[in-house]
Amino acid sequence: GTTRPVLLLTRRYPDAVMTRAGRDYRILTNEDDHPYGAEEMARRAEGADALLVCAVDPVPAALIRALPDSVRMIATFSVGTDHIALAAAKERGIVVANTPGVLTDATADIAFLLLLGAARRAAEGERMIREGRWDGWAPTQLIGTHVTGKRLAILGMGRIGQAMARRACGFDMEIHYHNRRRLPAAEEAGAIYHADADDMLPAADFLSIHSPATPETHHWLNAERIARLPDGAVVVNTARGTLVDDEALIAALRSGKLAAAGLDVFENEPKLHPGYAGLPNTFLLPHMGSATDRTRDAMGFTALDNLDAFFAGKEPPNRVA
Ligand code: DGY
Repeated sequence: GTTRPVLLLTRRYPDAVMTRAGRDYRILTNEDDHPYGAEEMARRAEGADALLVCAVDPVPAALIRALPDSVRMIATFSVGTDHIALAAAKERGIVVANTPGVLTDATADIAFLLLLGAARRAAEGERMIREGRWDGWAPTQLIGTHVTGKRLAILGMGRIGQAMARRACGFDMEIHYHNRRRLPAAEEAGAIYHADADDMLPAADFLSIHSPATPETHHWLNAERIARLPDGAVVVNTARGTLVDDEALIAALRSGKLAAAGLDVFENEPKLHPGYAGLPNTFLLPHMGSATDRTRDAMGFTALDNLDAFFAGKEPPNRVA
């Protein structure tokens, strides 16, 4: 047979993914699973035909230009592609592909977990009991925000936004959404479309963010938009931290304008804006939307499917550049 292509794996991926990668490629591995910076990534890419990166590996234009000529494809183990300078990749003729679809349900599950957990003060209750501060049931203890029958506004009605809407249907929620294009199927199921996201905000008892990070969505949830939300609204973000202006969100959680926030993603991960940790009404998770056994395997297999197609001379099914 022909020699297998050389694949740089920037991190330790799930066992089944490593096994398949090792069978079909000559793999360069990251033994202690530390994040490579740009410099180390360029150095390690020496002799590689392709890279398997993930959402926390920044691949800016400068790194793309510094990659050795041997690198012809970057497969990312993520649906998000905001960490990769796609235009620069295109310019160098490097093909890029992502993993849409396979993490939809896992991420929507975490979004709904955050919605419920933030609304119902699950983290506060958990801390109370764990720290030995629970002195028994009381009629006014840990009263949260009612969920069933409320209005849920979804920013970004892609796969994950739609899966969030399906979950909310089980809670008899009224769905409002903003998306670049209208979705007749969602509207047939009762969702209410807002051409302008700002016009949706007054209807958002709950606001869940599912848009990609782009220059246009940077700090989208700012002080002005928070002011348009109903008093006591709950905000959920499982997309990217850069969509939220942390200072504005923290001020609104502190003043009581917002009841709570459930956040799985942050602007400078893994650094947390210190304002969040000091607030009781934040329910915080460490970017684990896609972290299920089946989902992480499927992300790896999808990334490998993209690589396999490319090296077989075919179009990768999830090509983005
Ligand atoms: C993604 O896929 O973009 C997530 O952020 C990591 O699973």
